[in-house]
Amino acid sequence: MPNISQKAVQMPASPIRKLVPFADQAKQRGVKVYHLNIGQPDIESPQGALQAVTNNDLKLIEYSHSAGILSYRQALAKYYQRHDIAVTPDDIIITNAGTEAIMFAFFACLNPGDEVIIPEPFYANYRAFAIYAGVVTVPIPSKIEDGFALPAISDFEKMITPKTKAILICNPGNPTGYLYTKEEMTLLGEFVKKHDLFLFSDEVYREFCYDQASHVSAMHIKGIDQHVILLDSVSKRYSACGTRVGALVTKNKEIYSSVMKFAQARLSPPTYGQIFAEAACSTTPQSYFDGVVQEYTKRRNIVVEAINNMDGCFCPTPKGAFYAVARLPIDDSDRFCQWLLESFEYEKQTVMLAPATGFYTTANAGKNEVRISYVLKEADLHAAMKCLEVALKQYSNQK
Ligand SMILES: Cc1ncc(COP(=O)(O)O)c(C=O)c1O
Repeated sequence: MPNISQKAVQMPASPIRKLVPFADQAKQRGVKVYHLNIGQPDIESPQGALQAVTNNDLKLIEYSHSAGILSYRQALAKYYQRHDIAVTPDDIIITNAGTEAIMFAFFACLNPGDEVIIPEPFYANYRAFAIYAGVVTVPIPSKIEDGFALPAISDFEKMITPKTKAILICNPGNPTGYLYTKEEMTLLGEFVKKHDLFLFSDEVYREFCYDQASHVSAMHIKGIDQHVILLDSVSKRYSACGTRVGALVTKNKEIYSSVMKFAQARLSPPTYGQIFAEAACSTTPQSYFDGVVQEYTKRRNIVVEAINNMDGCFCPTPKGAFYAVARLPIDDSDRFCQWLLESFEYEKQTVMLAPATGFYTTANAGKNEVRISYVLKEADLHAAMKCLEVALKQYSNQK
């Protein structure tokens, strides 16, 4: 039999999904599993957008324009303008969700062997996309003690090589929930300009900012509009992960036309997804987002408070997204997360977490950390935190 490809060998298994078989077995034993491992929001999608899908009278589902349906790009440009992001429909390419936007950015801007610097821990799939593109990810550690703030610019300087071509940030961050400040974004902008790099800015959690903090987009930073590629998605914004609609946005016309070639090769983004997304960005009232932010703030507080009250645990308070990274008194988060599913139960319940190791590429980093997605209702979160507390006691006793 012929061998599989090198890329297939290198592709990492999803750190979030690899424990699924153990969760399935726990469920078969009659154990309730609280899923705090995955960023699948449970809040309902906006009604108006759902109705736009069910009420339309399409007679033929044809390919859309490769850049996306014009009326949707117009509506999306208005959405960005409402967020002080000055773009036109001609700066936007609609993609098959944020995932394709990130891949297009890599394909259009980077050669195999080029290096992209990413503050660590980072969204695990960035590594997978880098493998698709033959690109090298260069991690810069951020620290849990600082809540995973932007590492010092001097740390970035140390990582620059002739192969450095881009910086990739996620703001607010998955897995950390860290929200970059205006000062941090300005420093990054200066750095990007100084070294003539691309700035890939993944802003799929833009709406999820807490404690009255506001979101600073890479597109808000003056003087770097030729460097910025904004990566976006409706998945989280409208609790609509299954619509598979995202966007790549750039003022750089050379990048735009290069990305268009990749977009044309994959023909078009999904029609129904765009119908949903257009209605979502035109009709969703601010009260929807206010409700969502209120709900996630409550959930975040439950998780952060509970963890910080557990012996030997520490969890910074994230200002964005719906994740938190917590340090636990464990020596191997992969083993601990598997043990929770395989060998532990409390009143016929357990909790599924994502080992943080999957969000680091630095060897041995994240072994005493887990990522928690607070995407469950309050009562379930309280129950899940109780399970974790009991589990940690049992786990330390059995060692
Ligand atoms: C940081 C980040 N970027 C991009 C994505 C991709 O999302 P989608 O492809 O559903 O738009 C995710 C999904 O979890 C994410 O967390």
